[in-house]
Amino acid sequence: MGIVASKPWGGVFAEATDRRVEKFTESVSFDRRLYAQDIRGSIAHVEMLAKVGLVSAEECQQIIAGLEAIRGEIEQGTFAFRIELEDVHMHIEKALIDRLGDVGRKLHTGRSRNDQVSTDLRLWVREAIDTVNGRLVDLQAAFVSRCAADRDCILPGYTHTQRAQPVLAPHYWLAYCEKFERDRQRLADCRRRVNTLTLGTAALAGTTLPIDRHDVARRLGFEAVAGNSLDASSDRDFALEFAFVLSLVGEHLSTWAEEWILWSTSEFRFLKLPQAFCTGSSIMPQKINPDVLELVRGKTARLVGNVTRLQVLLKGLPLAYNRDLQEDKEAIFDSYDTVVACLEVAAPLVAGATLNRDAIAAGLDRGYLDATTLMEWLIKRNVPQRTAHEIVGRLVRKATEREVPLAGLALNEFQEIHAAIDPSIYEILGAERAIAAFQSYGSTAPQEVDRQIALWTERLQSTPTSAS
Ligand code: ARG
Repeated sequence: MGIVASKPWGGVFAEATDRRVEKFTESVSFDRRLYAQDIRGSIAHVEMLAKVGLVSAEECQQIIAGLEAIRGEIEQGTFAFRIELEDVHMHIEKALIDRLGDVGRKLHTGRSRNDQVSTDLRLWVREAIDTVNGRLVDLQAAFVSRCAADRDCILPGYTHTQRAQPVLAPHYWLAYCEKFERDRQRLADCRRRVNTLTLGTAALAGTTLPIDRHDVARRLGFEAVAGNSLDASSDRDFALEFAFVLSLVGEHLSTWAEEWILWSTSEFRFLKLPQAFCTGSSIMPQKINPDVLELVRGKTARLVGNVTRLQVLLKGLPLAYNRDLQEDKEAIFDSYDTVVACLEVAAPLVAGATLNRDAIAAGLDRGYLDATTLMEWLIKRNVPQRTAHEIVGRLVRKATEREVPLAGLALNEFQEIHAAIDPSIYEILGAERAIAAFQSYGSTAPQEVDRQIALWTERLQSTPTSAS
């Protein structure tokens, strides 16, 4: 036995590892989170080893029982983690050898930690994707749950944060559903590439042993088997993709959070946030602050940062495994924890907020939300678009001078600017009438909003939420 007998790789070493190096190189403080995936992967691996005759059926049973006992210890909190054993993979293997002696020493046949860690991470990300997906559905369901009650509430729609055109409240809610739906699609697409077996690529070149990788893939539910060992042991595209998709979830959440922070101010007064999702000030007694929304917005920084972290980590790494790759996990864990935490507070906050209908309605006459509808009314009467734009621009100028909405101008005032305007113009003026005039597919027209509500209600009925 070498001087570093406590290490699975200790044979060649004549000098003990410096304590500072053990502290510097360890990953068990964070990768212990992969214990269940590691044990699951090892069980599939040893079952395959038994199938191809590299271990006996009896040895296989002993190893599986040992691994399950170790899982029990970890779950009960009685398992001792110590940094000399570097990572979760070596801990579990060492514990197995302590239990089983030579039989335990067979588990690592035909694999290396390089493919083991990649496999564990893929199993973990696959589950993480499913969890995030469920939480996204919860949030979509929260938006959809508001639609019926808010159906007739007209809000100003904005461009450049300036009042633009009227929009029905559910049109806003379902806009977010669309964004989160694309995130779900991206997750599903990412999952396809995650769901590839890398185990059995061994260190980098494969193995001379008669392993059956397709058998392991079936046992672990992987849809494909990585076809090039060099690529597979170096590949962290899936981690970067996952982090990127989560960063995009964050972008969407931060847009929503920002909007609702504005809407809940006393300047806007569109929205009352549920008090259970607000916090107060230690000095200003009157304050009810949207800290939850601000943190959702703020935490997006981490999600974007983690993408950058992984991109820089992977840039310029030569094939195949390099220890740099150990740095991938914390970025992914952090992005996952952050997104799940945000989604868990976002859904009840969305469901629990109330629209301040009176304040919203009182302000709808401001901002000439009906100006574009008026322009289109002229276009329908064969006025060229550029001319109609000019006419309405002049009408808005006149109304602004008189400090009235467009509907506040008298017919002769309209006719001074465009003689062909007749009294039917008043049928489309005002936010409510302007809304009714919309008709294009995907617009905020009442019938289009109803189509969307029906579609999302049906879609979510057939989609499992995180609770189901
Ligand atoms: N803890 C390492 C990681 O997370 C495991 C792989 C170590 N492999 C090696 N050849 N040292 O990447």
